[in-house]
Parts: sequence; C-alpha cells; structure tokens
Amino acid sequence: MVALSTLSGIGALPLLLPLIHQAQGISLTVSTEGGNSSSPLLYGFIFEDINHPGDGGIYGEMLQNNGLQGTSPNLTAWRLDVSKNASGAVGFTNEGYWGIPVDGSEFQSSFWIKGDYSGNITIRLVSNYTGTEYGSATLTPSSNADNFTQNSVKFDTTKAPDGNVLYELTVDGGTAAGSSLYFGYLTLFGQTYKSRENGPNPQLANVLDSVQGSFLRFPGGNNLEGNSPTGRWKWNETIGPLEDRPGREGTWGYYNTDGLGLAEYFYWCEDLGLAPVLGVWDGFALDSGGGTPLTGDALTPYVDDVLKELGYILGSTSTTYGALRAASGQEEPWNLTMVEIGNEDHLGGGCNSYAERFTTFYDAIHAAYPELTLIASTSDTDCLPHNMPVGSWVDYHDYNNADGMVDQFDYFDNFNRSVPIFIGEYSRGTIGWPNMQGSVSEAVFMIGFERNSDLVKMAAYAPVLQLPDLIGLTQSPEMAFATTSYDVQQMFSTNRGDTIREVSSDSAFGPVYWVASSAGSRYQVN
Ligand SMILES: *[C@@H]1O[C@H](CO)[C@@H](O)[C@H](O)[C@H]1NC(C)=O
Ligand SMILES: *[C@@H]1O[C@H](CO)[C@@H](O)[C@H](O)[C@H]1NC(C)=O
Ligand SMILES: *[C@@H]1O[C@H](CO)[C@@H](O)[C@H](O)[C@H]1NC(C)=O
Ligand SMILES: *[C@@H]1O[C@H](CO)[C@@H](O)[C@H](O)[C@H]1NC(C)=O
Ligand SMILES: *[C@@H]1O[C@H](CO)[C@@H](O)[C@H](O)[C@H]1NC(C)=O
Ligand SMILES: *[C@@H]1O[C@H](CO)[C@@H](O)[C@H](O)[C@H]1NC(C)=O
Ligand SMILES: *[C@@H]1O[C@H](CO)[C@@H](O)[C@H](O)[C@H]1NC(C)=O
Ligand SMILES: *[C@@H]1O[C@H](CO)[C@@H](O)[C@H](O)[C@H]1NC(C)=O
Ligand SMILES: *[C@@H]1O[C@H](CO)[C@@H](O)[C@H](O)[C@H]1NC(C)=O
Repeated sequence: MVALSTLSGIGALPLLLPLIHQAQGISLTVSTEGGNSSSPLLYGFIFEDINHPGDGGIYGEMLQNNGLQGTSPNLTAWRLDVSKNASGAVGFTNEGYWGIPVDGSEFQSSFWIKGDYSGNITIRLVSNYTGTEYGSATLTPSSNADNFTQNSVKFDTTKAPDGNVLYELTVDGGTAAGSSLYFGYLTLFGQTYKSRENGPNPQLANVLDSVQGSFLRFPGGNNLEGNSPTGRWKWNETIGPLEDRPGREGTWGYYNTDGLGLAEYFYWCEDLGLAPVLGVWDGFALDSGGGTPLTGDALTPYVDDVLKELGYILGSTSTTYGALRAASGQEEPWNLTMVEIGNEDHLGGGCNSYAERFTTFYDAIHAAYPELTLIASTSDTDCLPHNMPVGSWVDYHDYNNADGMVDQFDYFDNFNRSVPIFIGEYSRGTIGWPNMQGSVSEAVFMIGFERNSDLVKMAAYAPVLQLPDLIGLTQSPEMAFATTSYDVQQMFSTNRGDTIREVSSDSAFGPVYWVASSAGSRYQVN
C-alpha cells in the first residue's frame, strides 16, 4: 500500500534509476467529488473445517477425539497404560492435535467417569520428550458404578517452550485394582478469547481480530454440503450439551467434533465483531448420487429444517426453537441478517436444478423472514432464475494462479449492477504457503473489486486458518504464523473508506494498480 505520488523520494539511489524513471512516470489525481459508496462489510472471512482450523485450531478444545465419537469409536490420539505398576499411577494420555499449546494461563479440564472408585485422579500436562510438567491437578472425583458423573478441575500452568506436550490422566492403581473404570467426554481448555465458555483459542482469535474483518461465512463451503444428503452439516446436531453432540464425518477427510457448533459460531461473530453469513443446505451434496440433487417435494423436509434452524437463531423465546435457544443459555436472538442458499451450486451437477432449488428455499425463507438478505451460491446466470428476486445477491468464487488473479482486475468494471455480489471465496490457489507473488496478485484483484465495492458487497479470503492457509499454526504456545496474504488482507481491511473516489492518471493500469477512497476528510490510495 503506497502513496504513489511520493515515490520520487527514492530517486537518490542511482542504481535504481531505470526502475524509478518508470515509477516516476505515473501521476494520480484523486477526485474529492462524486464517487460511489463502498460496502461497509467489504472484507471478511469464510470458515469451514478443512485442515483443522476448527478442531485443533481456533476452537479452544485441546484434546483430540475427546468424545470417542463416530460410528466406530477408536483410540485415535489416546494411549493407555502410562504405568503398568498397579500400585502406582495408572492411566492414559492424549496427545492433542499433534501437541497441546500450554501458554501459562489457567487451564480447565473435565471428564465423565463411571465406576466404583474412591481414590484420587491426577491430571498432568507433561513434555512428551523430557517429562517436564507444565501443570497438574489432583481431585477426588465423585464416581459411582451406576451412572456417569462429570468432574471438573482448574489449575495453573507454566508456559511450555513448544507444543510437544501430552495430557495425562492417572488414577491410583492400588485403589482401582480389580474394578472397572469408564471415562467419557474429556475436555481441556486454556484461557479462551474474551473468556467465552467453550470459546476460541485466544492466540488465533487475536490474530484474526487484527485483520478487523467485517463478517464470517460459515459453516462451509463443501463441509456444509457433506458427501451425501445424510452426511450434510446438521444444525440440530451441533447444539446443546457437548457430550450429547454426535459429531460428524466432515468432507475434508476427518471427523468433526461439532464442539464448535451453531451457537459457538454466533458467539465467535459476537466476540470478534463479525456479521454472520449462514450457509444452509439446499438439496445438493458433493456426491449427490453422481449429480442428481434433490428437487421438488423431496426438498420439503430440508426447507422445513432450515426454517427450524432460523427459528432457533431468530425466534422469540415464545416459539419452540427460540425457547430451545433460550434453554441453552441464549435469551436474545442472534443478529443474523444474511443467509446463503447452498454452496457452489454451479459445480458437480448442481447447476441445472439450482434455479428451482434456490427459488424453493428463497420463497420459504423470504416469506418467514422478509428482512433477511438471501444469497445465491453462484453468480453463473445459467444456473440462476432469469430474474433474481429484488434484494437477493449472488456469490462468485475465484481460486486462480497469480496471473489469473491479476487478469481479473477489471472483472467487475462492466458488470450488470442490478444484483449485488458476494465474493464468498477467493485466493491465489490453495496449494502451498501464500508467497509474495501470489499475495500481490490477490492485492491486485482486491483493488479491482474495491473499486467496484458499490456492487461487490463482501469478499472472503479462503481458506483462513492452518497450514497452508492464511494463518498457519502449530501447537506451540505462540501458534500462529501470519502469511504475506494475511498482511495483504490486514492492510486492505484496516485501510477502508466509505466512498470510492474517481482517480485520473496519465498511465493505464498494469503493472501498477490503485484504488482511492475516503472516509470523512481522510483520503487513501491503495
Ligand atoms: C511398583 O510399585 C512397588 C510398590 O510401590 C515398587 O516397589 C516398585 O518399584 C514399582 N515397580 C515399578 C516397575 O515401578
Ligand atoms: C488425594 O488428594 C488430596 C488433595 O490433593 C490429598 O490431600 C490426599 O492425600 C490424596 N489422597 C491420596 C490417597 O493420595
Ligand atoms: C443412576 O441414574 C438412574 C436414572 O437416571 C437413577 O434412577 C439412579 O438413581 C442413578 N443412580 C445413582 C447412584 O446416582
Ligand atoms: C510424542 O512422541 C512420540 C514418539 O517420539 C511421537 O510419535 C509423537 O508425535 C509425540 N507427540 C507429541 C504430541 O509430541
Ligand atoms: C436433526 O434433524 C434431522 C432432520 O433434519 C433429523 O433427521 C435428525 O434426527 C435430528 N437429529 C437429532 C439429534 O435430533
Ligand atoms: C477413529 O476415530 C476417528 C475419530 O472419530 C476417525 O476420524 C478415524 O477415521 C477413526 N479411525 C478408524 C480406523 O476407524
Ligand atoms: C446486526 O448486524 C447488522 C449487519 O451486520 C449491523 O448493521 C447491526 O449493527 C447489528 N446489530 C447489532 C445489535 O449488533
Ligand atoms: C441487468 O440484469 C437485469 C436482471 O437480470 C436485467 O433486467 C437488465 O436488463 C440487465 N441490464 C443490462 C444493462 O444488461
Ligand atoms: C461508480 O460506478 C459506476 C458504475 O455504476 C462506474 O462507471 C464509475 O466508474 C464508478 N465510480 C468510481 C469512482 O469508482
């Protein structure tokens, strides 16, 4: 981000003269009159569980496979028999999501236990390699042989130098000898962002917050769609007590705990000041029987399900689902104003039936919630109704190589302006870390849509978290690594105006691109 008119300051470096000669040739004049208003929500994020950005990432739960969920539960991440000496400490460990980030904050662990046991239980966080202890707690649990009971303990930690830390739970072998003990749904949390219960990891939430994005699209992405209709993301199975959530086989090769569920997404939005954009399932799964999405009457139960979901989010406490929300601790409806119908319905055989499916969902949702902005999941006019309903938006996705990204600079300049655009996903490819070239190409694309931000209302960089995405992470206490693309997002997001100004120049766009905006008396050229 450069004020190009001041480049002459480096003219003193003789070796750079040829380059500077070129740069000095550009002059920009920014108009202080007219211009188009810019969308206040322009920069934001899409979130879906791909590469562990949720479980093992921003979701504060640190134990992997903590609920032994799934149709065939197994011991992924768990190890038994810490010591085989029946009179000493006996128990098991969990290695977290390839480690556990112990940052020195107060930790809390809970577990369910069933069995006739009256001894102590010790929880420790220990280095996998040196045995160094970073925190421990001993409690005498309430436990009986008939039912599971939940126990919880808080303890101080000291900061670990890296993420090679195991969670260890042991019982007194002598006391337990000869009896059976059962454990279920174990949890481990450190400090969470804004102390939100079951909330985000603060390191990652802080890095995300520094972008000052405006919205969050969730829960996907492909992960909304599921691999089959029954495998779709189901809102009603992501709410309520954590130990009752079944979890779900995600679409990116691993099981989702759904501890980060519908309510948690809304709290995340609230805590980070993001406007929620909720994706709803529209009859189209990834494998949808080889490209035959549900249509006609087959959609009815899914339309009903979306209305229930919206009732849970927006209904008053006198309604069935509003009361359910209140019962789980949220009296006030959440502040949802935008709903996207499906995901990438122009792909994988979704196009032909999308106009019908969009219309079916649109009509039902709009009738019940006329104030919601409803977004089609594609901008491909071949897949959309001939006349988009007034007030609806379309979603345009762009994953591209660096040259392709730059070529898209003027994509929106001559666009039909009757239907607003949401760029629900974009970035220079998804393979490997962002690099300087790719991030600069994203910046050119961003200048292009910011210039058109009367039409382009919102744009979400994707994917956001976890190697090789916008913010890479490990489980060391300082777990986040921001990338060059992160810097680009942050620069644009934190330098926004409310009005896009006309710029005249003696040079055409390329290889230098610019956009000028103003907010009050403050002007900026990006
Ligand atoms: C097992 O416990 C007994 C009694 O506490 C102790 O004498 C013995 O050294 C322990 N053995 C091992 C292998 O830890
Ligand atoms: C159980 O833990 C308590 C509190 O840490 C301790 O006072 C007590 O001695 C322990 N009991 C046994 C049998 O280790
Ligand atoms: C176990 O749960 C059952 C059913 O809820 C209840 O009737 C019984 O009293 C419980 N037993 C104990 C020991 O808490
Ligand atoms: C712990 O050590 C084992 C054996 O070296 C290794 O396979 C595992 O990845 C390590 N786990 C963590 C969390 O450091
Ligand atoms: C969630 O709702 C779906 C209908 O969309 C239903 O099939 C499923 O049984 C519900 N799950 C639970 C746990 O109630
Ligand atoms: C073990 O369980 C985990 C978590 O539910 C799941 O992701 C994994 O696929 C399971 N592994 C096997 C071999 O079933
Ligand atoms: C609700 O969200 C809208 C759109 O993001 C925003 O304009 C409004 O201020 C929010 N209201 C509250 C009470 O947060
Ligand atoms: C833009 O699209 C709308 C709705 O599809 C259509 O009515 C209108 O004629 C289009 N405008 C132009 C200039 O193509
Ligand atoms: C404002 O939008 C119109 C298209 O509606 C466009 O022709 C014009 O260049 C835009 N002005 C600015 C300052 O971007």
